[in-house]
Amino acid sequence: MPKDPTSELRFDNRVALITGAGRGLGREHALLLASRGCKVIVNDLGGAYDGSDAVKQPVADDVVAEIIAAGGEAAANYDSVENGAAIVADCMETFGRIDIVVNNAGILTPEVWSDLTLESWQRTINVNLTGVFSVMQAAWPHFVEAKYGRCIVTASPAMHGAGVAAYAASKAGVIGLSNSLQFEAKKLKMDIKCNAIVPHADTRMTRDFSADVNVRREKMGKKAVPSAPPEFMQRLAPGFVSPLVAWLAHESCTQEATVHEGGAGYFARFNWARSTHLYATEKEGVEGLPTPEHVRDGAAAFSDFVNGDLPEAGDGTMAGSALTRVIDHLGT
Ligand SMILES: NC(=O)c1ccc[n+]([C@@H]2O[C@H](COP(=O)([O-])OP(=O)(O)OC[C@H]3O[C@@H](n4cnc5c(N)ncnc54)[C@H](O)[C@@H]3O)[C@@H](O)[C@H]2O)c1
Repeated sequence: MPKDPTSELRFDNRVALITGAGRGLGREHALLLASRGCKVIVNDLGGAYDGSDAVKQPVADDVVAEIIAAGGEAAANYDSVENGAAIVADCMETFGRIDIVVNNAGILTPEVWSDLTLESWQRTINVNLTGVFSVMQAAWPHFVEAKYGRCIVTASPAMHGAGVAAYAASKAGVIGLSNSLQFEAKKLKMDIKCNAIVPHADTRMTRDFSADVNVRREKMGKKAVPSAPPEFMQRLAPGFVSPLVAWLAHESCTQEATVHEGGAGYFARFNWARSTHLYATEKEGVEGLPTPEHVRDGAAAFSDFVNGDLPEAGDGTMAGSALTRVIDHLGT
């Protein structure tokens, strides 16, 4: 608990749209924000973890009922995030404003690379990446009009995972999207903050995915991957991630274009890291274009991150400070 109770992070008079909030992580984000005074649109089409049409469950209604029973305000929306305009219009019609968007809806298709089809690839990208585009395109004009907004996107540790190429690509993509939106907001000089989270939690998605992977392993004559001990799984309850989302969603939070990870009560921030650099210019005696051998012979520089730096996402990468450095280097 905060030492000063007046420092409690509250969301009175704020409205949050939380996608995929009918279960798992989104549900916990919705319950937490609502418990702190936020009005919430609980969006969820109630689908299968892999986005197939196998199931459709009215899970958003259950979360809305839970919020209302606890004295909060919420309404359900069943549109797919691929139709962001309809979801945002519903939010505006229901609550008259939109201050926070937690882009949480996601699917995970379980094919390894050799089995991945274009249909499965597109299904994943359509929900996980284009869905964020669609919702944020619709929400953005309201943020700009209010000169205020909080956008959170949901990436994944599986950005680096084997056997989930479409998912990994979509989750890396939302970080780029969030960074780009943040730097547009910065140019507009508005209090709009866009950040990404990398959650880790025991949910329907992780359970169903593990079950499918184990079926595949068994077919290949391999042993099933055992699940972690129950006491550890309890610590992986999705509610352990939501405080990070609530902090990033709060008006007092000044984080911009960041990536934070959270799960099991553990929180940290990821960052971009640049190694020390190699110059191969006329100052180093290189005539004309550098050759592949210049790069090979100087490649040790790329392993030294201790003496490198931590560029801000977006404006600190090659197109920003690094080019300035090259110009400075040539001029000195
Ligand atoms: N659980 C984890 O460890 C973990 C790790 C990294 C990232 N994530 C991400 O966190 C988010 C939430 O995942 P979860 O673990 O709670 O999964 P989940 O499957 O339990 O919940 C996801 C919810 O999103 C909904 N949804 C799916 N497609 C939708 C669409 N097109 N429109 C609206 N709603 C849709 C589903 O119906 C479901 O209720 C996802 O983006 C997921 O990729 C989860």
